[in-house]
Amino acid sequence: MTTMDGTAEQRATAAATGASATERFRLDKAVAVDASPERVSRLAREVLEAVHSTIRRHQVTYAEYDALKSWLIQVGADGEWPLFLDVFVEHAVEEVAGATREGSKGTIEGPFYAPGAPEFGAEATLPMRPEEKGTPLTFHGQVKAVDGTPLAGSTIDIWHCDDEGYYAQFAPDIPQWNLRGRITSDATGHFSIYTIQPAPYQIPTDGATGALIRAADWHAWRPAHLHLKVSAPGHQLITTQLYFPGDPHNDDDIAAAVKPELMLAPTPSADGTGIDVEYDFVLDPA
Ligand code: DHB
Ligand code: FE
Repeated sequence: MTTMDGTAEQRATAAATGASATERFRLDKAVAVDASPERVSRLAREVLEAVHSTIRRHQVTYAEYDALKSWLIQVGADGEWPLFLDVFVEHAVEEVAGATREGSKGTIEGPFYAPGAPEFGAEATLPMRPEEKGTPLTFHGQVKAVDGTPLAGSTIDIWHCDDEGYYAQFAPDIPQWNLRGRITSDATGHFSIYTIQPAPYQIPTDGATGALIRAADWHAWRPAHLHLKVSAPGHQLITTQLYFPGDPHNDDDIAAAVKPELMLAPTPSADGTGIDVEYDFVLDPA
């Protein structure tokens, strides 16, 4: 098992990253849901009953109960609820949401999406620093409907971390929109994106989530991944991620978000400096 003091140095503190993720969630996602009292009651009761039965089964002590309280308070103080929930809970919500979809598989969004990325045509180089580190990556493919019809003018909204595992807008010292962009497919649904291969990502380890991971002797790694939201008029948007074969954490992703359908098949690029990947997206009707 990889240890907590793995190779990636943590420039971004958990509190700073968590605060950014919390702020982003408040801006974009904090909508009221119209749930009946019966549904709220059933869900809340079942979660609480699961907690009670864990306490009884494991004879939880007052010291442990107080440790839990301090930890919950600290998750909030660090602004880490978006990080914690997206790592440990979102995959089950996504499984339920995607169960009836016929087209491409989705997976979790995670806490680091930012709406409104710069827009490009069907061939685009993602915004990056002049000396952006990392293996050059060409990502091309086609967006189609479930019946195979090419979807012209679809949007491929892509975001990923840099070669050190940091996301623009959530870690300090990275230019806004670095390695983020919205690409529009051409008349045949095709697109080509030039970027760099993202690094495996370690969730921030210096905050409350890291403290839990350490106390439980888990590891903090997600395998390297590209994040995408693919959409077209009249079709369902899919939120997904794509992974690279051979990553040591493809089989034990802390966020449990890897699916076999989301594995890329890279080939060496023609000029020998990087890798090419091809991946097509199939969207269900709305
Ligand atoms: C987290 C980070 C990610 O990049 C991701 O894809 C999923 C979760 C997190 O830190 O919670
Ligand atoms: Fe991510």
